[in-house]
Amino acid sequence: MAGLLRTTLFLTKGLREFTRGGYERASKGFDNTAMDKPASLHDHRCMVTGANQGLGYQTSLELARRGATLFMVCRNEERGRAAVEAVRKDTGNPDVHLKVCDLSSLAAIKALAEEWLASGQPLDVLVNNAGIMLHERTPSADGFESNFAVNTLAGFALTVALQPALHAAAAARVIFVSSGGQYNEPLVVKDLQAEQLKKYDGIVQYSRDKRRQVALAERFSERWAAAGLRSRAYSMHPGWTETEGVKTSIPGFYNSFKNKLRNLQQGCDTTVWLCVEDGGKLEPGAFYLDRRPQHKHLALAGTKYSAADVDALWIKLEGMAAPAMPAPAPTA
Ligand SMILES: NC(=O)c1ccc[n+]([C@@H]2O[C@H](COP(=O)([O-])OP(=O)(O)OC[C@H]3O[C@@H](n4cnc5c(N)ncnc54)[C@H](OP(=O)(O)O)[C@@H]3O)[C@@H](O)[C@H]2O)c1
Repeated sequence: MAGLLRTTLFLTKGLREFTRGGYERASKGFDNTAMDKPASLHDHRCMVTGANQGLGYQTSLELARRGATLFMVCRNEERGRAAVEAVRKDTGNPDVHLKVCDLSSLAAIKALAEEWLASGQPLDVLVNNAGIMLHERTPSADGFESNFAVNTLAGFALTVALQPALHAAAAARVIFVSSGGQYNEPLVVKDLQAEQLKKYDGIVQYSRDKRRQVALAERFSERWAAAGLRSRAYSMHPGWTETEGVKTSIPGFYNSFKNKLRNLQQGCDTTVWLCVEDGGKLEPGAFYLDRRPQHKHLALAGTKYSAADVDALWIKLEGMAAPAMPAPAPTA
């Protein structure tokens, strides 16, 4: 009964807010001052994961258009090169670079972070966008369940590993591209790899990952603020957007809603806005849709969690992500 109520509330909210129509209504109230400012990301180093297609690619285009020095993280070198070339050509920005990294591998994340930290460059923006929804249980290179490895663990590990570079920037922003799917699941900490589900369900696991991203953005921001650091993290929902990912992972949903889906520019609007808006106007740790912080739970959904739950999640992820942590810099 609770499940049925949650599904009904979710679909009602989704049809009203997550669709193209929802974006068009919300966008009537947008203040575009920061978005329209040319070269607003000049002198900003930005990294986008899962950048060769879909929302990650469009986000890359939008950041490059605004003058960013851009690093596109892609797992396939050939697709990555083609995407980098396309962004350079489309935006006229030559300062767009490829980082090859399969985020399902902690060793690959470590290599990426070590290379970045060795370069001594600060990192102003990290967009944790890469995401997957596999319907069969599949082990990652490290033996983790793959949806969890890419959607939860990789963003956590990459953010932790890159912290020295983030904190070396004036006021870094980390954006977790979550999903409205997070509304459907509580914060599951005990069963990170969905081993206790009666039958493995990729949609449930994806939604749990997206809930975990929301909690992690909150916690990263709290920790950084408490330590007197200026870096902040945010999570966001792009809305229901037409991408290859949606077409191939949830074809039934795609076929039912294809006339209502957002285009890529609408889907990545909030991510880009979180990169360029005056930081004083943003709510650290909030979950954004269409440039506004959202409630993180649906009414009566039973998804509320405590600070102790997030502590427990953090401790578990820290243990799992340890192989991705760069070796400490040698002391003189
Ligand atoms: N589209 C929507 O309606 C929607 C709604 C809510 C949330 N989201 C979120 O938005 C993000 C982007 O989704 P999308 O719709 O643009 O999906 P997409 O078209 O499938 O793109 C996903 C991107 O992530 C990359 N990726 C996947 N696994 C990776 C790995 N192990 N290492 C490095 N890169 C990897 C993919 O690379 P390959 O090309 O090599 O596979 C691809 O570039 C995801 O986090 C998704 O959960 C999307």
